Amino acid sequence: MRILAIETSCDETGIAILETTGALGAISPRAQIKVLADVLVSQASIHAEYGGVFPAVARREHAKNMMPLIIQALSEADLLRTPKNPRILGPKEKETLATIFHKEPELLEHFQTTLLGISVPAIDTIAVTSGPGLEPALWVGINTAQALGALWGVPIMPVNHMEGHIMSSLLTPKPAQNGKKVFSLSVPHYPALALLISGGHTELVLIPRGGNYEILGQTRDDAVGEAFDKVARMLGLAYPGGPEISKLAETAPRGQTLPEKLPRPMINSKDFDFSFAGLKTAVLYMVKKIPNLTPEIKALIAKDFEDSVTEVLLAKTLAAAKKYKVHEIILGGGVSANAKIRSTFHTTIARELPGVTLFLPDRTLSTDNGLMIGIVGLTRSARTQKTILAEGHLRLAKSATKTLAELRKKKG
Ligand code: KG4
Ligand code: ZN
Repeated sequence: MRILAIETSCDETGIAILETTGALGAISPRAQIKVLADVLVSQASIHAEYGGVFPAVARREHAKNMMPLIIQALSEADLLRTPKNPRILGPKEKETLATIFHKEPELLEHFQTTLLGISVPAIDTIAVTSGPGLEPALWVGINTAQALGALWGVPIMPVNHMEGHIMSSLLTPKPAQNGKKVFSLSVPHYPALALLISGGHTELVLIPRGGNYEILGQTRDDAVGEAFDKVARMLGLAYPGGPEISKLAETAPRGQTLPEKLPRPMINSKDFDFSFAGLKTAVLYMVKKIPNLTPEIKALIAKDFEDSVTEVLLAKTLAAAKKYKVHEIILGGGVSANAKIRSTFHTTIARELPGVTLFLPDRTLSTDNGLMIGIVGLTRSARTQKTILAEGHLRLAKSATKTLAELRKKKG
């Protein structure tokens, strides 16, 4: 079983090709998932000029990188072959492609010049992010998936990006085979709790049973990654701001504190919602008020900001974990790469909830990539679709995926 996965929801163009034994959806925890290819182009340096992601620029860059990345992924997976004669499309196929790319003539042109020259590769299915994300960016991935599906005669399936962040945290590395990374996928013990923290989302999600997602709380304003990026900008740091804040915070002089502590917004509220806009504004006031913003003071601000975010995320997660008596806590999304958040969650959960397992994504899998989309695709029971729509505000729905546990139960 081989799956090609496409991710274009924000500013990373990610393509992965994964291989596993067994049929789609029937993947067991012992099954090995071999990463035949995992390629990525990040647009971060381009968006850095603007201090954030511009949808039209993201779309343009995805369109530019898409076909070369697919060719690169097929080549890495050793699935790239050139036929004796290039493929000639019939009128019906031409019409199908023209319809798919009717708003993106340059992508159609690019598709035809690169992909008609190769043989149909041994791929069984194509998974693509359908949301949430920036719609112009999502469409590039979706249209490419639809065109490849039509050209290669393989089914396509939509994947929720947030479910990808959850699943990628459940991967355990195994010994590599022929230089290719290999993972197995853990099956959580339910109920489980996921804290999803990315550039666009901050959500506490209860997973009562596999594939069932219940959003317990979310941010009322800025997402936590967005707050990292904006505060970084105030401190004169580059985009994406998360890793920059983290590096700066580590240089904060020990034993010193700011004259005034930053707030810990909503830390004592009885719900599971978050709010980071006020924290961001508090940093802005502080930056304006302090006449001489020395590197030490900047580092102290970065550290207190990171501490504030960590404390709030942790307090809410612990409260939800206790209330719903969860067996596992899963951290996912770009901000889960943060070293401070990872280590604080690790030590506090071990101390306060000793029976609870914490799943953290491999740091290289925290931020967006194609692999996380492929993993969700592999656990699906062949739920493919003819056409896929971009859904910028797609939510984690109840019963999104049949889980491994359910699938195993069914099989007895
Ligand atoms: O999941 P992701 O790659 O994209 C979205 O789906 O939004 O998350 C990107 C976010 C950015 O806001 C970035 O600043 C943040 O993740 N991020 C971090 C770190 N690495 C990435 N935030 C804090 N600490 C980090 N080490
Ligand atoms: Zn993401």
